[in-house]
Amino acid sequence: MDDWSVSEKVALTCGDGQWPTRALPARGVPSIVLSDGPHGVRRPRDAAALMMNDAEPATCFPTGSALAATWDPDLVHEVGAALGAEARALGVAVLLGPGANIKRTPLCGRNFEYFSEDPFLSATLATAWIAGVQGAGVGASLKHFAVNNCEFRRYGIDTYVDERALREIYLASFEAAVVEGRPATVMAAYNRLHGTHCTEHRWLLTDLLRGEWGFEGLVVSDWGATFDRVPAIAAGCDLQMPGFPGTDEDVVAAVRDGRLSDVDLTAAARRVVCLVRRSSTEPAPTADLDRHHALARRAAAAGTVLLRNDDGLLPLPPGTKLAVIGAFAREPRYQGAGSSRMNPPRVDDALSALREEFDVVYAEGYERHTDTAPDPRLLAKARAAARDCDVALVFVGLPETAETEGVDRAHLRLPAAHDALVTAVSGAGTRTVVILQNGAPVEMPWLDGVPAVVEAYLGGQAGGSALADVLTGRVEPGGRLAETFPVRWGDHPVSAMPVGPRRVEYRESLYVGYRYFDSAGVRPLFPFGHGLSYTTFSWGPLTVSDEGEVAVDITNTGDRAGSEVVQIYVRDEEAARFRPAQELKAFRKVTLDPGRTETVRLRLDRRAFAYWVPGTGWTVEAGTFEIRAGASSRDIRATATITLDGATLPSTVEYRDPRGGFPRDEFLALHGGPVPEDAPEYTMDTAFEDMPGAAAALLRGVLRTAETVVNRTVDDPVTRLLISQTRKDANPRILPLVSDGRITPRMARALFRLVRARSRP
Ligand code: BGC
Repeated sequence: MDDWSVSEKVALTCGDGQWPTRALPARGVPSIVLSDGPHGVRRPRDAAALMMNDAEPATCFPTGSALAATWDPDLVHEVGAALGAEARALGVAVLLGPGANIKRTPLCGRNFEYFSEDPFLSATLATAWIAGVQGAGVGASLKHFAVNNCEFRRYGIDTYVDERALREIYLASFEAAVVEGRPATVMAAYNRLHGTHCTEHRWLLTDLLRGEWGFEGLVVSDWGATFDRVPAIAAGCDLQMPGFPGTDEDVVAAVRDGRLSDVDLTAAARRVVCLVRRSSTEPAPTADLDRHHALARRAAAAGTVLLRNDDGLLPLPPGTKLAVIGAFAREPRYQGAGSSRMNPPRVDDALSALREEFDVVYAEGYERHTDTAPDPRLLAKARAAARDCDVALVFVGLPETAETEGVDRAHLRLPAAHDALVTAVSGAGTRTVVILQNGAPVEMPWLDGVPAVVEAYLGGQAGGSALADVLTGRVEPGGRLAETFPVRWGDHPVSAMPVGPRRVEYRESLYVGYRYFDSAGVRPLFPFGHGLSYTTFSWGPLTVSDEGEVAVDITNTGDRAGSEVVQIYVRDEEAARFRPAQELKAFRKVTLDPGRTETVRLRLDRRAFAYWVPGTGWTVEAGTFEIRAGASSRDIRATATITLDGATLPSTVEYRDPRGGFPRDEFLALHGGPVPEDAPEYTMDTAFEDMPGAAAALLRGVLRTAETVVNRTVDDPVTRLLISQTRKDANPRILPLVSDGRITPRMARALFRLVRARSRP
């Protein structure tokens, strides 16, 4: 690249509109296309379009929550391979996924796209996904790096997390996926981390990602997350997406006047060229969508979690007279909204699938698309439908508007009409099975009156037929929760913590998900790892060798084939620093015929016992560790101990007891670094919604008018909601993205300066 001009190199570091990279024909560099991701290929028909609703047909697989609930890396690999094949067939070189962000709170609007609250599980599945996709000759884009765990004020929110939680939880969810999965690209997130945007975070993108983890691929910005290309390239963010004309000159000038080194620019341009050159230009065969539908069906059943099944109510015997109640049975919620929303060629619904096998009475129960108050007329019809049936299947969940990218959920409840439906039907005397379609946990105030509950998650295009497979018993409900379901939102540590407008403090530190519930002794509604089978298993004693080999015999003691997920948790018995009560460090899903036994062997390496010591790094303390083998974090079946050599550290007292909440002063002491007050700021990162002053108010008025005008062309309520939320979250920095490049960064800066000047008292 020695003889390439600065402008040529600059040109390569910026996309050509929404999805393609820029071609440089004089240098033999063609353009490639990047597309969402993650549970299907969303290749827009019109490559220039920002709107997300018109994509080429492609298979919609179960979303991240459901895939994670399979606890099956081999199956996730298979799904990845199918995604890769479809991406190639559609001319996509990089598929934007997987999403490896930790589910810090069940209310994050994007949890349906992410895998887990546990970094080991999340990273293991992300690694399998990447291997599958990349094995098909398509690059993956591991996202959103990093610490992007809420949607509120998503373009500017500033995250403060102590070093241990950062390493042990949030970065750990990416680390193995980078080191072992070797994704072609990593996507730098919108948010700030400790005051610096992830796209401009040199420590994150260069020192850690490339230096420590050995990442050799390309870093791409999340869409619109790069505002100023100069600090982004200097930090190690190679490719700005999307790319709009008119920003190259500033970067060229920065190289000329020494603000950006030619070395950094050349490194970024070289990585773009490497990515393009490794992308296949061979024509790909068309993908076999029927085969992928069958795979999507298998994956959906494997990720379906049987939460409760009193007296073996499920599976349903042939000949059962069924009341199928709830509009989700006829028109399923099967995917999430936002950038991942895609266009499947077909969608199976459970009602049609069940009608093929049972005598079915159907009642709608609630209005499908809205979160309106219960309708007494629909409830009465539902009760009447259930009356003469043997079993009532009540389909409830979160409608599209209650759960989408860009918008955090306001509460953990189902729509009132859905809760009322369950109560009405289950109270009418017919044995009731509740089937949930949602991407993240919900409260279940009616649980005591319901003998069976199935968490179907967002099962993708074949979710409906997969449900029929599971309900009839043709297939096992193979899923186990990859996240904790709290009894109520108030039980969750994050419920007591402020979020925004400017920043969010992760005061709970390491106590994320089950790490909190198990350490604080708070009973969850359903624990991490939970899920029932149609058969039963016995567990033998657990053995552990000095080298960390654990082994346990699992026997299928029932009369049908089924699967069990062996989960290995490690408990540090005498740590010098605070540690969660136990942490998942290995797992394996086994499928056994009746009467069969398998010895499950897993290996715990040194890292499985280590924690992060600031200033030192990963450290194993000398001492005793309890190894716990369980069917959930609360259902430990066998234990063993191991004593290890290691470091001796002075004891500290902080954060030992998670029961008293997490006072800010203790968090600040733990964090150590500067944490600004959450006073409203007035910067390029401040949402117009949060800016004081008359000029900002005027601008808000303009944005609202723009929203009204755009909405005239939009029928879909979810897209309207997204537009409205984007308007509320918009800050000066994101104006180029939301205006599709019509507002340049220079104009956005000028506008901001004007608004700020006019707002001074
Ligand atoms: C999302 C990414 C997505 C990108 C492109 C962003 O808004 O955060 O996950 O890949 O858009 O659609």
